[in-house]
Amino acid sequence: MTEQTDNLFLHVATPGIHGLKPYVPGKPISELERELGISDALKLASNESPLGPSPKALAAVAEALGELARYPDGGGFRLRGALAEHHGVEPAGVTLGNGSNDVLDLVARTFLGPGTEAVFSEHAFAVYPICTQLVGARARVAPAHDGSAGPRYGHDLRAMRALVGEDTRVVFIANPNNPTGTWLPRDGLLEFLEGLPEKVIVVVDEAYFEYVEDPAYPDTSRWLEQLPHLVVTRTFSKAYGLAALRVGYSLSHPHIAELLNRARHPFNVNALAQVAALAALGDQEHLQRARAVNRQGMAQLAGAFEELGLAYIPSVGNFVTVDLGRPVADVDRALLRQGVIARTVEAYGLPTHLRVTVGLPEENARFLAALREVLDR
Ligand SMILES: Cc1ncc(COP(=O)(O)O)c(C=O)c1O
Repeated sequence: MTEQTDNLFLHVATPGIHGLKPYVPGKPISELERELGISDALKLASNESPLGPSPKALAAVAEALGELARYPDGGGFRLRGALAEHHGVEPAGVTLGNGSNDVLDLVARTFLGPGTEAVFSEHAFAVYPICTQLVGARARVAPAHDGSAGPRYGHDLRAMRALVGEDTRVVFIANPNNPTGTWLPRDGLLEFLEGLPEKVIVVVDEAYFEYVEDPAYPDTSRWLEQLPHLVVTRTFSKAYGLAALRVGYSLSHPHIAELLNRARHPFNVNALAQVAALAALGDQEHLQRARAVNRQGMAQLAGAFEELGLAYIPSVGNFVTVDLGRPVADVDRALLRQGVIARTVEAYGLPTHLRVTVGLPEENARFLAALREVLDR
């Protein structure tokens, strides 16, 4: 949909809508193929799993097709139960979402509104400013750079803490963050969370949790008992390979879940998504394969960037963001002409960076060959 700058009905829209621009997703493969008249476009733009979902999830979807005339289980009883068991928490603390974006939005609609503030970091995931603005709350954005020498892209917890005030209701932390791939280790994060007032809901968005292998990376779901204001979000879109079905969830104190549930649309997670997620959760071997593919692909991309003399932001997710040292839009257009879709991140305040999702070895190789050609190296 095109953005309408002279929209006839803008004056009728809520104040939150006024400053918003529609989220621009990665270009769909089918669109590029239509434009170029090709059939083999490569998309490494939306941090999807190149391995796809577990065959068990596909079988569960096939089996559920006969029930499409029926509404899904609106309470997500089986999936919430399985997630509760998987994480060692009460089912009452599990909230399902139409993707974890839906849960982030639920948190905003439940706890934010005019006169309140949300705190998050510069370069943080795009949905935090969108859902904050939509409900008329104020965004307080902490600079990622603390003024020290050299680039810095991660969350600066000290700067974030300094922005937490009387009106702060929600803090959003992406760990790891998209698009920077940066992450926060256990000690610093725990200290930050413990230091927040309990009336501040703190969301730790762990969309890429399953990929992170550093032993200092925390599983914050373990802290739920000691931190009642913590909301941990996870998703089946990334390592579980189910992005198309839209299913994510949060773990929180049951009282927070109860409030989120008041704002949740009935049947927000469709029936196919529920059975697929349940089966995917039960196939941890597939998840291990996805991690292994990612580990290998990340090394391939990072090694090539080093060879090319390109500065990249070390990432623990399934994507890596590289500084091309020149306006990225031209490079992106040239890559598209070669049938390769990566992601510019200008909207995140990174005008010379390109984000690429880790693919299968041959996909990474094709991206790198196209990039070499475009950069003439
Ligand atoms: C940091 C982060 N959080 C949340 C999401 C939302 O994913 P989904 O709504 O598919 O669960 C994404 C997707 O790209 C992400 O990068």
